[in-house]
Amino acid sequence: MSRRKLVAANWKMNLNKQQAIALAQAVADAMPEGELDVLLCPAMLHAGVIAQQLVNSRVSLGAQNCAAFENGAYTGEVSAAQLSDIGIQYVIIGHSERRQYFHESSADLTAKIKLALAYNLIPIYCVGEPLEQREINHHFDFVAHQLQKEFSDLSAGHAAKCIIAYEPVWAIGTGKTATTEQAQEMHAFIRAQVADWWGQDVARDIRILYGGSCKAANAKQLFACPDVDGGLIGGASLLIDEFKQVMQAAI
Ligand code: PGA
Repeated sequence: MSRRKLVAANWKMNLNKQQAIALAQAVADAMPEGELDVLLCPAMLHAGVIAQQLVNSRVSLGAQNCAAFENGAYTGEVSAAQLSDIGIQYVIIGHSERRQYFHESSADLTAKIKLALAYNLIPIYCVGEPLEQREINHHFDFVAHQLQKEFSDLSAGHAAKCIIAYEPVWAIGTGKTATTEQAQEMHAFIRAQVADWWGQDVARDIRILYGGSCKAANAKQLFACPDVDGGLIGGASLLIDEFKQVMQAAI
C-alpha cells in the first residue's frame, strides 16, 4: 500500500502569536525522519508569519477554512487564492464546527472544494455523523449523504487530489474516540464510495484521516487500521509532547 501517512494539527481558535510561533518551531524540531507528512493549521491571522517560519522545514501549512467565493465584497472572508499566495498548501473544508456554528451548507462546501483545487490547495474535506445518527444506526447513511451531496460531483482528477477526514462529531473535543473497529469500518465504507464513483485507482490512493480525540494514547492503534491514513488532531496538537507521540505513531 503506497499511501503516505499524514498528521494534521488543527489549532482552531487557540494560541497567541508567540505561542503559535513557539509551537510551530517545536513541531518542526520534533518532525520525525521517515515517510510522513505533517501540517499545521494555525489561526488565519498567524498563517503568514508561520508560513515564513516553515519555509525551510518539512512541516507544511494548512488553513482551517476558506471563502466560498473567488474574490470581491465578502467582508471578513479569506479566499483560496489569498491562502495559496502566502504559501499555504492545504485547507480544511467542512469541519463540523463550521457546519454547526457557521451554518455552512453543502453548496458552500462544494464551492470551497472547487475553489481550493483551482488555486492548487489540497482540500481536507471533513465528514462525520452526530451522536443521534450513530445511536439509531444511521451513521453510514449520514456520511454517504454528505459525500453524495458535497463531493460526488467532482471529476476523478479533482477527487484524486483531495484528502477526506472522517470526524465523528460525538468524538470531537469530547475525549471519546471511535474504536478502531468503528473507525476502520467507516473509512473502508468511504473508500468504497470513492471506488464506486471514480474507480479503484482513486480509491486506492486517496488518503482518509481520522479525527476526534485522536491523541498519544490511541493514535498507534487508529493509524494501524488499514484504511486510516493519519489523523486530524485538535486538542492533542496544542500539547507538544502529545503531538510528538502522535507523529511518531504515524511512522
Ligand atoms: P479533537 O478535534 O482532536 O480535539 O477531538 C479534532 C478536530 O476537530 O479536528
